[in-house]
Amino acid sequence: MIKKAVIPAAGLGTRFLPATKAQPKEMLPIIDTPVIQYVVQEAIDSGITDILIISGKGKRAVEDHFDRNWELENILAQKEDESWYQMLRQIGEMADIHYIRQKETKGLGDAILHAKQHVGEEPFAVLLGDTIVDSTIPVTRQLIDIYDQYQQSVVSVEEVAAEKVSRYGIVGGDDLSERLKKINIMIEKPDTGEAPSNLAFAGRYILTSQIFTCLEETSPGKHDEIQLTDAMNILLQRESIYALRAQGKRHDIGNKMDYLKTIVEFGLKRPEFAKEFRTFLKDIIK
Ligand code: UTP
Repeated sequence: MIKKAVIPAAGLGTRFLPATKAQPKEMLPIIDTPVIQYVVQEAIDSGITDILIISGKGKRAVEDHFDRNWELENILAQKEDESWYQMLRQIGEMADIHYIRQKETKGLGDAILHAKQHVGEEPFAVLLGDTIVDSTIPVTRQLIDIYDQYQQSVVSVEEVAAEKVSRYGIVGGDDLSERLKKINIMIEKPDTGEAPSNLAFAGRYILTSQIFTCLEETSPGKHDEIQLTDAMNILLQRESIYALRAQGKRHDIGNKMDYLKTIVEFGLKRPEFAKEFRTFLKDIIK
């Protein structure tokens, strides 16, 4: 039973400057909802009851967002439309959310290592705080179902264009079915020609607690950061790791072009905006 999730959200977000100079990229809104609220919702919809957010310098807004805001609640409670009041209260009560601060941004691997104490000996989910996956069944749920079958770590992967493999962590392995692979190699941002496939990590993981020992044994790698991929390669020598081409579309909000596309796609899906927004887009494209 996987009940705990870790959401790393301490990164500097340098690819999204200047917006991220004084505010966390995880709080960037997709129309009216911050990215991290989608991520927390996915965890809850997947059956997670305990969430640890890896926070850091300049990330107070994330903590405030999931806290109660009495002043605003009181004002909204007096208004005739109760729906905003209810919505605000629900955000404050979404799940049992804990925080720990990563004092130096030493990489995703280091961020996850901060969860060691909180997670203990259990397998747990990792959901990147800057990545939304739009899917029918939450991707974390899809991964938990595979974990329940194999009792081993499982990561979600997606196909990327051949010219983009050098931007991602790439996995190679043997096919078990159309969507599932047993991994035999993982390379972080491979050079052209070095990539074992075009399947890239897609921001969602189920990891066994053995990963913490592996992270402790991992030296700083690319960009002088503790890379999760390097620790997972150590884990691979000890346990099996599976890769699932999960159903769903990944949106990497840390990347400006993806952010722009996400807002357009989500805008077109919102019933209250869809018609007018579609007409607007058609008109400007003309
Ligand atoms: P990224 O590598 O996309 O985030 O990490 P970043 O370092 O903020 O990005 P750039 O390159 O500077 O723009 C993926 C997730 O891991 C978290 C980030 O907050 C993001 O949600 N992360 C990354 C940490 O929590 N700590 C780190 O040291 C690095």
